[in-house]
Amino acid sequence: MCGIVGYVGEEQAAPFLLNGLQKLEYRGYDSAGVAVYNGTGLHVVKSKGRLSVLDGILEGGRTLPGVVGIGHTRWATHGAPSDVNSHPQVSDGGKFAVVHNGIIENYLELKNHLLRRGVEFVSDTDTEVVAQMLEYYYRGDVLEAIGRVIQRVEGSYALGIICADCPEKVFAVRKDSPLIIGLGQGENFIASDIPAILSKTRDICRLRDKEIAVLEKDGVKFWGEDMEPLEKPVETVQWDVAAAEKGGYEHFMMKEICEQPEALRKTISPRIREGKIVLDDMKLTAEQIKQINKVFIVACGTSYHVGVVAKYAFEKLLKVPMEVDVASEFRYREPILDENTLVIIISQSGETADTLAALREAKKRGARVLSIVNVVGSTIANESDDVLYTWAGPEIAVASTKAYSTQLAVIYLVVLYMAQELGHTPAGEMAAYLEDLQRLPDLAAACLMDKETIQYFASKYFNARDMYFIGRNVDYAASLEASLKLKEISYIHSEAYTGGELKHGPISLLEDGTLVIAICTYGRLFDKMMSNVREVKARGAVVLGITTRDKEETLRQQTDYQFCIPKITDFMLPSLSIIPLQLFAYYVASMKGCDIDKPRNLAKSVTVE
Ligand code: M6R
Repeated sequence: MCGIVGYVGEEQAAPFLLNGLQKLEYRGYDSAGVAVYNGTGLHVVKSKGRLSVLDGILEGGRTLPGVVGIGHTRWATHGAPSDVNSHPQVSDGGKFAVVHNGIIENYLELKNHLLRRGVEFVSDTDTEVVAQMLEYYYRGDVLEAIGRVIQRVEGSYALGIICADCPEKVFAVRKDSPLIIGLGQGENFIASDIPAILSKTRDICRLRDKEIAVLEKDGVKFWGEDMEPLEKPVETVQWDVAAAEKGGYEHFMMKEICEQPEALRKTISPRIREGKIVLDDMKLTAEQIKQINKVFIVACGTSYHVGVVAKYAFEKLLKVPMEVDVASEFRYREPILDENTLVIIISQSGETADTLAALREAKKRGARVLSIVNVVGSTIANESDDVLYTWAGPEIAVASTKAYSTQLAVIYLVVLYMAQELGHTPAGEMAAYLEDLQRLPDLAAACLMDKETIQYFASKYFNARDMYFIGRNVDYAASLEASLKLKEISYIHSEAYTGGELKHGPISLLEDGTLVIAICTYGRLFDKMMSNVREVKARGAVVLGITTRDKEETLRQQTDYQFCIPKITDFMLPSLSIIPLQLFAYYVASMKGCDIDKPRNLAKSVTVE
């Protein structure tokens, strides 16, 4: 959600800024802009719409000379998408240019204060308040002005700042919104996410809340909230550049769907040794596991859907009460937690604002927090008592696929680890679960072998107005995710229902030719699902059934189209059944000509509430 880049060095800034912003396009945006110090002052160019529009205006950056600059892709929160509301925002006197991710919650109060003192505003944004305050508090020392501003603003921010009086510096500060500093040779960078700078450097420093960085071409200095100088550790990013490129695929989403077997292998293999689950990073002791009286899983979107699968696995194996909640609800209710409650936070990005707030709420109420996160060093990872990384590599497409698969894999590891530590599950049963978990990457690869069947099916239904997904138990959990995948990238209206709930209302939506996708992999309730399939077919629905290979023949007799997946432990079934449905969403969106990797109105990382 919004993207920030900044450059100081010896090369031209604008081409790098445009390139960096292009690498952040996946985060979602509706306008873009850059500010460069051009030898005489700050020169700002910004425009509503795609980055290609800005790139055209700047002729790839050639028309904006200068070696210090900041750039931004904006996803509108305060003020409509427009040229004037785009970032960088510039102060009244033209001294400061600012790019900002996040939301300044008290901006109106601050704006009114400045208006009363004669400051003139041109935009509707909260960000302009920051630019204006910087100039208002500036007495010749930018660092001091930044310090005064961050004492007054409330909310979340990652800020890139340049000042006409300091033409050789870029300033950066953050709170509750990610920002990294990239360290190069004779050049340094800021970015809201790693892909923006990966072509230049793998050495990065992460800013913590309210830490300030001052970048010059030959070095970076850091200050803490107390304005004392700081030493920051340097991390080396382990991904290679290719991991953040399309690598011959038309879209990141297809690349990431196809990467799932490998990603699963990386998540699972190092954590199973000599027939045991080994979670080196987990500090939770066997004694503490025994004390757990309740488990909550809290997350948003796809990560929440992982929680819905987890509930079935936890209750089956651990017999512990469990609740799954979306973070935006959890953070504002009054959940009953104590020191024996385990709260599992799931987030690909590790920066989702609602999920982070839920984590803080859980900690405030005394619970122990374990997070499952993909982005190493993200805020959620840093603030949790325990963190297990999914090691999926960068996920660029807005629609989450390999993150979902690897989050599920970590959930299976956690539940089996806890069962192993509790020692209640018979040894033979545990061994069978571990064997299935180790087969999962190969079985996922097998599900990817038959893309053509799904492509053909998509070609018949990509014009549908509505689609419905039904399932029971873990198949219901997979239905939720399949339905989200389809609607977010193809814009087709779709809902997921439990098979048993249909006759309580939703069945009235069916008419001749309505497409229903019935996930029927959960063996114990297969016959119940067949009854549901008959019910929908009797109302004229066309049904695609998904089941395990052993049930193929029965399914063939009941449904119009079929797709079969290998058999595996019940609670792991969604890891396989979701694959044809990710492909289905992809092909439908592709046939409709949708912008698959950057669906409208969506952002990869939702860092505002
Ligand atoms: O980074 P997170 O896992 O916290 O993100 C949560 C959701 O915003 C995310 O899963 C979203 O629903 C995806 N676009 C789904 O494909």
